[in-house]
Amino acid sequence: MRLTLSLLSSAIQKRPFYITTPIFYVNAAPHLGHLYTAVVADAIQRFEKLTNPHLNVIFSTGTDEHGTKIQQAAAKAKLPPAQYCDNLSREYRDLFKDFEVQYTDFVRTTEDRHKKAVNHFWRKLKDDDYIYKAKYAGWYSVNDEAFVPEAQTRTDITPEGKIRISVESGHKVEWTEETNYMFRLSAFKTHLQRWLETDGVIQPAKFQRQLLEYLSSETYFPDISVSRPAERVHWAIRVSDDDTQSIYVWLDALVNYLTVTGYPDEDVMKSRGRPWPADLHVVGKDILKFHGIYWPAFLMAARWHPPRRLLVHSHWTVDGGKMSKSLGNTVCPKTVPAPHALRYMLLREATMADDANYSETKFINIANSELADTLGNLVARSCGTVLNPRGERPPLHTCTPPPGATQLLDALQRLPDTCYDHYKNYQFYKAVDAVIKVLHLTNGFFESSKPWELKKRPECQKDLDIVLHITLETVRICAIILQPVIPELTKRILDKLMVPEDSRYWHNLQPTWSINGAIVEAKNIEGGKFVLFPRIYKDKKNQQKKATA
Ligand code: MSP
Repeated sequence: MRLTLSLLSSAIQKRPFYITTPIFYVNAAPHLGHLYTAVVADAIQRFEKLTNPHLNVIFSTGTDEHGTKIQQAAAKAKLPPAQYCDNLSREYRDLFKDFEVQYTDFVRTTEDRHKKAVNHFWRKLKDDDYIYKAKYAGWYSVNDEAFVPEAQTRTDITPEGKIRISVESGHKVEWTEETNYMFRLSAFKTHLQRWLETDGVIQPAKFQRQLLEYLSSETYFPDISVSRPAERVHWAIRVSDDDTQSIYVWLDALVNYLTVTGYPDEDVMKSRGRPWPADLHVVGKDILKFHGIYWPAFLMAARWHPPRRLLVHSHWTVDGGKMSKSLGNTVCPKTVPAPHALRYMLLREATMADDANYSETKFINIANSELADTLGNLVARSCGTVLNPRGERPPLHTCTPPPGATQLLDALQRLPDTCYDHYKNYQFYKAVDAVIKVLHLTNGFFESSKPWELKKRPECQKDLDIVLHITLETVRICAIILQPVIPELTKRILDKLMVPEDSRYWHNLQPTWSINGAIVEAKNIEGGKFVLFPRIYKDKKNQQKKATA
């Protein structure tokens, strides 16, 4: 039923599915938290394609390269800002390649197409009088690239002495007085409230409530500054008719989502299937206000629709503490062994609503027990020459499953719908958990069927075939379902089982017996030894010894 609806909607839906990640600051190398945002968005777009084979997906990511933060980081690295940004932006691209983040567009805010979009957007706001010039004084946080209201700052005593900080982010703020362009945010309070009351527009609901509470509690909802003096922030897009001013980095950055659609070029937007409004912005909880208040207000002022939905995720901590460059505890994904396993753990462990904690021990345990043992070993044993010397998915000679398989077959029957709902609710951990439970049942069924004993008795060949058939069919189904989470590992499994590329969709999930009953023909599988995922050993020497054994 769910699948029929989804196929129907794909036939009707001509416009692309447009999903985005935030664009990443290039002031430091990517860490685990950055990777997480991108992997979440990637898993969602893969799931959409899995359930809608003809869907055209636009999946954008990129780098946010302007502003004081970047200016300072380039100076520290003793590099011209442009070169510094090239290097860091490349690091993100390399990271996404290693972790199978299959974006369709990588946008950089230093590109001409983006500057054109920002200038056009600015002009529209200015022409319609949503932007005006004024003197501004307030506490500014370079780290957050935002002015912080007085009431949300406090004085802190640090080794550097007394400093003023933002209560929300903990970052230092500086008193700043300057002439700025201001955006009439105050004009949009009611419109924003109405938009934020739309069911499911921000997920999880807890973040939608947070924004609504923020709006209703702020009796004072001021306009915001959207430019900085160019003499102070020179690494930025200049206001086109006033080169004493640089455009505020957040306005610059948010417009990236329009740049990708071809904005402001009508022909290009049309050729891309008019992807706006974006179907989904995936963002971390720290940038909720920018995406849930500023961005929709900017769009409303420019007479564009706000995005259809924001998916907000919580943060990764490390060994129980906040991950931060200054604490020196950031986890660099490049240095973690086994990228496939790291991607798996990120999606398998985290919930959107609450922070998740990374520890190396937990990572290794999950990778070894679930990828190497539960999944990898099952495939290796059921495909290996000891039990399956003919190298095939053997036939199923009966319509009556063996009694030992009843619980497994029932669970397998329910699995696609269960996982469909979990994926649709962005609850990857629940989808993976359901699959792992079925794989545990499969391992139990396999063990209790004692295929090694059936193998010894030629008269039991049919029974052995049934055990192998059910096991390999379960593996096929679980691998199809897990594709959004571990694309490369599931590809290896489906290649091993010689499942054709066009039969790896959600509508291919019914078990053979529910379509065909008894099956007489065997199907070949790929020959050769199969190791899905070599166990990780904490002790590197041990790892090498095992790998060369
Ligand atoms: N440049 C802005 C976004 C502009 S989008 C128009 C920015 N960049 S960022 O590099 O600081 O953050 C990018 C993403 O990484 C955000 O979604 C942020 O929440 C996420 N993460 C950064 N640290 C994180 C964790 N420790 N855990 C999970 N994600 C976190 O903000």
